[in-house]
Amino acid sequence: MTEKKKDLRSRAWFGGADKPGFMHRSWMKNQGFPAHQFKGKPVIGICNTWSELTPCNAHLRQVADRVKQGVYEAGGFPLEFPVFSNGEALLRPTAMLTRNLASMDVEESIRGNPIDGVVLLVGCDKTTPALVMGAASCDAPAIVVSGGPMLNGRHKGEIVGSGTTVWRLSEQMNAGAITAEEFMSAEESMSRSAGSCNTMGTASTMASMVEALGLSLPHNAAIPAVDSRRYVLAHMSGMRIVDMVKEGLKISDVATRASFLNAIRANAAIGGSTNAVIHLIAMARRMGVELSLDDWQTHGRDVPTIVNLVPSGKYLMEDFYYAGGLPVVLRRLGEAGLLDKESRTVNGHTIWENVKDASCYNEDVIKPMDAPLAAHGGVAILRGNISPRGAVLKPSAATPALMKHRGRAVVFENYEDYHARIADPDLDIDESCVMVLKNCGPKGYPGMPEVGNMGLPPKLLKKGVTDMVRISDARMSGTAYGTVVLHVSPEAADGGPLAAIEDGDIIDLDVEKGTLSVALSNAEIEARLKARKTSAAFQDDGYAGLYQKHVLQADEGCDFDFLVGCRGAGVPADSH
Ligand code: FES
Ligand code: MG
Repeated sequence: MTEKKKDLRSRAWFGGADKPGFMHRSWMKNQGFPAHQFKGKPVIGICNTWSELTPCNAHLRQVADRVKQGVYEAGGFPLEFPVFSNGEALLRPTAMLTRNLASMDVEESIRGNPIDGVVLLVGCDKTTPALVMGAASCDAPAIVVSGGPMLNGRHKGEIVGSGTTVWRLSEQMNAGAITAEEFMSAEESMSRSAGSCNTMGTASTMASMVEALGLSLPHNAAIPAVDSRRYVLAHMSGMRIVDMVKEGLKISDVATRASFLNAIRANAAIGGSTNAVIHLIAMARRMGVELSLDDWQTHGRDVPTIVNLVPSGKYLMEDFYYAGGLPVVLRRLGEAGLLDKESRTVNGHTIWENVKDASCYNEDVIKPMDAPLAAHGGVAILRGNISPRGAVLKPSAATPALMKHRGRAVVFENYEDYHARIADPDLDIDESCVMVLKNCGPKGYPGMPEVGNMGLPPKLLKKGVTDMVRISDARMSGTAYGTVVLHVSPEAADGGPLAAIEDGDIIDLDVEKGTLSVALSNAEIEARLKARKTSAAFQDDGYAGLYQKHVLQADEGCDFDFLVGCRGAGVPADSH
């Protein structure tokens, strides 16, 4: 046995010629593993979010099989294990509610088991940050394999993008332009293969973020789920993690502050989801890396959006892969001086070595830096007396004419109030108004649901209005669009000044200046906050109660206060 192999933490379970060693090996042998598997091979955990309740990840058992082949080929011992699968499609009220829960599952599964390195199988939006956060708190050698996006949706000869097309068609139905039957007929056409959303929604964004961070092999973001090359990537990732264990290459060696800044710039370039702001901050803080909203403003705001994908542009993920994928984007950032070229990646090379020769095969899908989709594509951070700790807006998905806007507030106390009144023909609202939605932040509506892109009043949709300024402490789907101010911090239910806004108040938004304010003095705001009681319901028991007590605000990543930081992967005590 070599020196290196003695260092494997799995030896604490499988290495002993004693009673605990007997027990650990003996029980494992009921699965038919031969004795040589336990003799010092790196044990590779394959952390799987497979679930038939998470349709975007339902093919991950097959992906895991290919990872296993790679691990065996490289001389490792792969062991697949399930963790909580927080899928966006079915889970109510929102998959974000259980992101932190899943991360705890991952962290404790890694630390408590004989795992030397881990492959994280992810796909649907929140599964990616959940698994990276959990593994980061252990600082294990880790490599991410995403499930890949669905094929392009096709309906009546038109391209159908996951999520985005649903928003658009339902608006057309509410405006009376199409019938309910026409709306429903697009269902099968939208989701016609395995994989995650095919738009640049949160799933594709987070798959791109892990690639930009260097936590996956190149091309992880865009290879379609059903493309044979997705399985090659899985196989190669399985081979590579075995070497990473031998080299001792851990998450903290790869995901440094410099690589997080690379990811922030990449998010701007791809026109990525606003959810990434929350997830990247949460992931960074698990690694002890300082990252704040200001970094999004300072490093990302002026980076052009060059990827022409829905919802900011017109193509889908399949097109992105065929055009060259994320390596082309990273190459363009590097040539423009917007990439830390020395950042390491899981394949042992620097990010620049990985992307410097990437070729673009379609300049309409991945535009040149000097002819971008949006010149200042990064997420805008907005501060002022509505959002002292910040709010976000995605300029590439907004209406240019509304980016500087003054309007009268029309306030909805919570999501129920919004639903009860939005279709009322007597609602006192026109297209110049600013829609304000309260009590949908992390504590007010546990999980902070994706309702910030609240639909416009049907009477205005029928008039042909397509966008209005909307402000809330909620999130929005990465597939959504509009002039939507999100993540207002602190949230209304946590005493934030958003709670003080009333119907008729005058609100000023100036994206260029980064400001968001209401024409009220501090004294008026304080007096109103004192006089009102929140309509948010606080729960004492259950997971939602734990969530409300411990969740941090959006500017801090919505992690639980007690989970921030890295606790390592020391071997726990044995009790046999
Ligand atoms: Fe799972 Fe969009 S619903 S990726
Ligand atoms: Mg989503």
